[in-house]
Amino acid sequence: MNTQRLSRGDTELAGKILKNGGIVAIPTETVYGLAANAFDPAAIKKIFEAKGRPQDNPLIVHIWEIGQLETLCRDIPPEAYKLASAFWPGPLTIVLKKKDCVPDEVTAGLPNVAVRFPSHPVAHEIIKAAGVPLAAPSANKSGSPSPTCAAHVLSDLDGKIDAVVDGGECGVGVESTVVSLIGERPRLLRPGGITHEQLTAILGQVDIDRAVTQKISDTEKVSAPGMKYRHYAPRCPVKAVCGDGAKSAEYIRENARQDDAVICYRGFSGVFGKLPTFPYGDEGDMKTLAHGLFAALRAADTANTKRIFIQCPSDAGIGLAVANRIKKAAGFDIIYLK
Ligand code: TXA
Ligand code: MG
Repeated sequence: MNTQRLSRGDTELAGKILKNGGIVAIPTETVYGLAANAFDPAAIKKIFEAKGRPQDNPLIVHIWEIGQLETLCRDIPPEAYKLASAFWPGPLTIVLKKKDCVPDEVTAGLPNVAVRFPSHPVAHEIIKAAGVPLAAPSANKSGSPSPTCAAHVLSDLDGKIDAVVDGGECGVGVESTVVSLIGERPRLLRPGGITHEQLTAILGQVDIDRAVTQKISDTEKVSAPGMKYRHYAPRCPVKAVCGDGAKSAEYIRENARQDDAVICYRGFSGVFGKLPTFPYGDEGDMKTLAHGLFAALRAADTANTKRIFIQCPSDAGIGLAVANRIKKAAGFDIIYLK
């Protein structure tokens, strides 16, 4: 298949390909998504094939106005509207009970559907042009880091998808926050662009799912099936080093060997001798770390790299999302320094 390279002005054409059952990678404010008509099971199957995605991992459905929530979901609690008015359009996904019109292919057979109203103007225009909600997982090969620019998408999926719309670099850089309103209390299933602190300011208590911070065994039941996979995983092993920047740098300097690479905070590149370094953001600024993480993971993962060491931030603010992606990339091989 020839993958068409489209520009941000080609939203009508992208919408047409989607209407006709094609799959198109589109920019969003978080990461690039691989979109298909959410009501077209045959198109949804193409997404799973192109990504090599496990069949039990459900997709997020993207809408272009809050009113569409009622088309897709039933028994919507008031908390959903509170969250929507505070954070939509934006990097928040809400899990609610699904209506029958949402195919099982989208939800992997679950009775619930994850819905998000993205803020990226190009995403917005494409969903509108398609005229239907779009199911879209991140537009990477299953298991590799999510794409934050069109080149990442093409490096994973060129020849496997109908088109990619180049909207430049994604602003947030990590995926949306996923919050479930299905149980008795709101539950954070995946930390992301909207922080736990922002959610509790609107909802009061919000539980954090165990899978956010801990390793889950293959046999355990999880609330978000995606959480159990070793996502965001480069080919070579990753070691996450938690603690303040000076201490983690010292640990890495003492333990990294030839052929290892270091993903570090800006300003630390000089301390690792001859090792290749990939600065991904500022230690004190979690947003810059979120923005740069996935590109750094991809860049560090060359055929010659034996191991990747990463300076891992604290769980404050969007740091919870950054640390979650790093720990998962590391398969929970983590050093905590005091
Ligand atoms: O920022 C994002 O959310 C990006 C952009 C493209 O919107 N999308 C994205 O999709 O990250 P994906 O498929 O890579 O991750 C979706 C996550 C998975 O962990 C999945 O298990 C969870 O959301 N999820 C989807 N539907 C669910 C459902 N019905 N119940 C619980 N978790 C669900
Ligand atoms: Mg993904």
